[in-house]
Amino acid sequence: MSDLIHYRLEDGLALIGLAHPPVNALGQPLRAAIIDACERAAADERVEAIILYGEHGMFSAGADITEFGTEASFAEPDLPSTLVRLTQIHKPLVAAIGKLALGGGMELALACGYRIGEPSTRVGLSEINLGLLPGAGGTQRLPRLIGAESALNLILSGQQIDAERARMLGILDRIATAAEQLLDEARAYANELIDYGAPARPTEAWPEPAEDLPGDFLARYRTEHEPRWKSRLAPRLVLSALEAACLLPLEEGLARELALFKQAEASRQSKALRHVFFAEREAGRIPGIGADIALRKVDKVAVIGAGTMGGGIAMNFANAGIPVALLELKGEALDNGLMQIRKNYEISVKRGKMTAEQLEQRMDLLFGTLDYNDLADADLVIEAVFEQMEIKQQVFRTLEKVCKPGAILATNTSSLDVDAIAATVSRPQDVIGLHFFSPANVMRLLEVVRGKATAPDVLATTMKIAKHIGKLPVLSGVCFGFIGNRMLEPYSREAHRLVLEGATPAQVDGVLTGLDLNMGIFSMLDLAGIDVSFLIRDSNRAAIAHDETYCRLGEELYALGRYGQKTGRGFYLYEGRNCKEDDEVVVLAERLADELEVPRRSIDDQEIHDRCMFMLINEGIQLLDEGIALRASDIDLVWINGYGFPAHLGGPMHYAEQLGLDKVLAGIEHYRHVLGEYGQMWFQPAQLLERLVAAGNTRIEII
Ligand code: NAI
Repeated sequence: MSDLIHYRLEDGLALIGLAHPPVNALGQPLRAAIIDACERAAADERVEAIILYGEHGMFSAGADITEFGTEASFAEPDLPSTLVRLTQIHKPLVAAIGKLALGGGMELALACGYRIGEPSTRVGLSEINLGLLPGAGGTQRLPRLIGAESALNLILSGQQIDAERARMLGILDRIATAAEQLLDEARAYANELIDYGAPARPTEAWPEPAEDLPGDFLARYRTEHEPRWKSRLAPRLVLSALEAACLLPLEEGLARELALFKQAEASRQSKALRHVFFAEREAGRIPGIGADIALRKVDKVAVIGAGTMGGGIAMNFANAGIPVALLELKGEALDNGLMQIRKNYEISVKRGKMTAEQLEQRMDLLFGTLDYNDLADADLVIEAVFEQMEIKQQVFRTLEKVCKPGAILATNTSSLDVDAIAATVSRPQDVIGLHFFSPANVMRLLEVVRGKATAPDVLATTMKIAKHIGKLPVLSGVCFGFIGNRMLEPYSREAHRLVLEGATPAQVDGVLTGLDLNMGIFSMLDLAGIDVSFLIRDSNRAAIAHDETYCRLGEELYALGRYGQKTGRGFYLYEGRNCKEDDEVVVLAERLADELEVPRRSIDDQEIHDRCMFMLINEGIQLLDEGIALRASDIDLVWINGYGFPAHLGGPMHYAEQLGLDKVLAGIEHYRHVLGEYGQMWFQPAQLLERLVAAGNTRIEII
């Protein structure tokens, strides 16, 4: 018997323990071992029931993702046929689900006739997150167990549900009293089944999964949800699979599911989402910093400035149970900040995401102060005061005096030079940038900015604590705008310029949302505030001084006090939640074009796509070459999680690889020639892009 399985016989029970740590990924060798063990138990006359469990506590987190898209994915025995074989065994099979049964792991549990979990068990079909659908019976067996509607919701959400919910839905038959009792109670359950002469599989709870639903349920579901799916393929394939579950006998449904799975697996979208999955795991690895590095302890945090960002940042730590001191200059600002935090939590309570008791517990972790001396015992201090160098430097000078040695001193600056801030203290090795995104309590992305002097253990500690508070930390070097905002600049510049040349803001935004970005650039600028982008641009004036057309439309809107949503006017007009195009903006663009002698013409969507995207991509490649980003996949994560770039395109770098690096370069060169002086100025291909294309590389990496 293989090392991947522990097999033992105990009083009429065969206990089959999956022993492929860390997560019992169901790769080919484990699948083969499961079949062997189950066949052996089926053939052994002494065995009356079989228990399948995770030897190290966890049942199974699913398929081996590295097999997807390769031949190994369907190497014999493949998962679908393995599971069909399990359902044919004529003895009761009990899945004892410790910790997790996800994806293929949950399909394995569904192929067993009976399921018992423990209090911390979570189950889910997470394939949709990888642009896939459950391909080993999940879309067929789950609806027969819990009905079509619940199954559809679970599969489309890709979310994990807890043991209690799984029991209520009918996925778990029982929940053991404690994780340590799981195997004992699974034995007792199996013995009861034997005593009652229970069948190998109970009759299906929902032999007709859609029987209590209106005839047009699936069609209506599609109409209602399709706008949210945008161009994503996987949700549509899930729906087709569910349709098969409702209309076809199981065997035919399984065949249909497999065909749909293969279609999803071969799709570009799934490839992109798998890229994102691995990118997230890779992002935590920093060359030169090993797992053995001693971390600094972070038991107490302080946040300076209780404004928009400071409040949100403080909430992250309170949510993770870490006490936070929140410091402001004046009592009124502090009270407002704390009140805003309470309001945010109250919304969560109203939505049922938190109890009133939890609200109070979190508020208790927040300690407001006006006195810097209260920061003396903080292990990590995050500054989130006004975006002005002198103010921030003054704050750091004070921190130097009051903070204990070894305290990590972080700045949330979005555009200032972290090294210049670090230079104000005698311990620059303790200084780091932690660039949270707004709203800071919601957005997952955190750019961790390594300064020239930042100590390795400070970096490693902040990466760790970031994960602890549920963020996705991505490392950036110091430069204007770090990774995300620096790329935003040429992308935004190009959008502005296109409007001068004859496009409208709505046309530009339409092309971008047509690509499935969450928001077009002009809607985004209106939301963030045209005043904010003006001030950031203003601080970088030297770099753009040679182009008087640079974001001129934005400058004029700023001068007119049209700051975007907050003033009801920006690139668009706002009435309540409604947003409308504004002819005045077009007239303004015409006037500016005339003044600046920019010829106007009608501009097609392809040109908008190419100019905005190629400039975004080019800047990303340049950042990689400069060493600001460690790897192309880090850049993808920043844009997916901070700027609404669609994950199913894999991020701008992956998208560029899909478009073809040679095509991107040719496009940049094309506009360099056709856009006159402007093209010569801005359409400069990144040298790394030129090197990659010359070398015939199709992937973006440093060469
Ligand atoms: P804000 O104006 O809402 O809050 C700043 C707060 O700091 C105010 O409550 C102010 O009273 C307080 N403050 C000012 N000087 C202080 C001092 N010396 N000591 C203590 N408190 C002081 O500003 P916001 O938007 O929260 O921005 C804060 C920082 O976060 C800035 O550096 C900004 O660039 C950065 N940031 C902002 C983002 C955003 O979307 N708003 C996104 C990412 C970073």
